[in-house]
Amino acid sequence: TTHKLLLLPGDGIGVETMEEVKAIVSFMNEEGLASFETEEGLVGGSAYDAHGKAISEEHMKLATESDAVLFGAVGGPKWDGVPYEVRPEAGLLRLRKDLALFANLRPAICYPALAAASSLKHEVVEGLDILIVRELTGGVYFGEPKEITDLGNGQKRGVDTQVYETYEIERIGRVAFELARTRGNKVTSMEKRNVMKSGVLWNEVMTRVGREEYSDVKLDHMLADSGGMQLVRWPKQFDVIVTDNLFGDLLSDIAAMLTGSLGMLPSASLGAPDERSGKRKAMYEPVHGSAPDIAGQGIANPIAMIASLAMCLRYSFGMVELADRLEKAISDTLNDGLRTKDIMSEGAREVGTREMGAAILAK
Ligand code: NAI
Ligand code: MG
Repeated sequence: TTHKLLLLPGDGIGVETMEEVKAIVSFMNEEGLASFETEEGLVGGSAYDAHGKAISEEHMKLATESDAVLFGAVGGPKWDGVPYEVRPEAGLLRLRKDLALFANLRPAICYPALAAASSLKHEVVEGLDILIVRELTGGVYFGEPKEITDLGNGQKRGVDTQVYETYEIERIGRVAFELARTRGNKVTSMEKRNVMKSGVLWNEVMTRVGREEYSDVKLDHMLADSGGMQLVRWPKQFDVIVTDNLFGDLLSDIAAMLTGSLGMLPSASLGAPDERSGKRKAMYEPVHGSAPDIAGQGIANPIAMIASLAMCLRYSFGMVELADRLEKAISDTLNDGLRTKDIMSEGAREVGTREMGAAILAK
């Protein structure tokens, strides 16, 4: 089967790192390892420069018709003054919203070659391989009311509302349980049921879904604050962590720091399976932004972007073996001592974006 892939490099280092992904995708096509039909579009500041919007309707249509979207990064000081509705980030938010990407997957993997150079305790991070599944479209970031009201006596009240309904918890839970089956078969659900009603419901629903649909997967519950502590103390106790939008935002940033550089971290955002085809809408992107401080210098680390392609192979197309090979190529290249500036350490060889990409492709 031919898969339709939409590439949206965006701005800054998004463009530079996507070049390395394009080379790998072309290679896979040429070698008959996969069959991709790729289209490329504009998003973010570059889209604004071209037609005054952060993403055009034409490219939104392409995104909804694609089997997966690979997204680089958007933004930069050049667009600081543009109107709020068309700022570069609006393109990203529009994609997440229109594709209804409710599940955000953030792996935290510590490659052996980097564990040695980590500022954290070697035994804590070496061999780390966990996956945080964050609910992305609900919770306190979206719940109503959401407002600042003037109380009239020189006081104001800021209000955000945490809301979760059963179906939202069920569907993110199912994503986590399904993923756990392909990994270590363990899910840890995190909430604060001790102080939040939405946490009580979260806990109830996860427990029921686990019991009724995934009794083969081990399910633990942990209070989210304690979970944060455990993530730093002994992260290897976890396999898949599933949590809400707010806690997931914080916990995934903590987990990111266990792995080294922002330049190493991929992510995936998945939607619900289509009722007819069973296919999920999905977008894959590095966690980092457009890095204006290093853009255009050819020194950005392309690994987060390349690892995002590996996630795409794995989760959208079920090409597990090819994904494994790509991830192993990354790991082997690091073992050879090649490093971009952001992960450079003593005794290693510093290379630029192109050289790192080419070395991984050669592997
Ligand atoms: P950033 O992630 O772009 O950069 C943070 C720091 O990490 C910088 O020092 C940068 O040089 C470094 N860095 C990031 N990725 C790297 C890589 N692949 N290789 C080597 N070094 C890397 O975050 P920042 O500086 O806060 O934001 C810059 C712009 O990116 C802003 O306009 C922001 O709005 C946007 N942004 C976009 C995101 C997206 O498109 N998903 C996410 C985060 C920020
Ligand atoms: Mg965050």
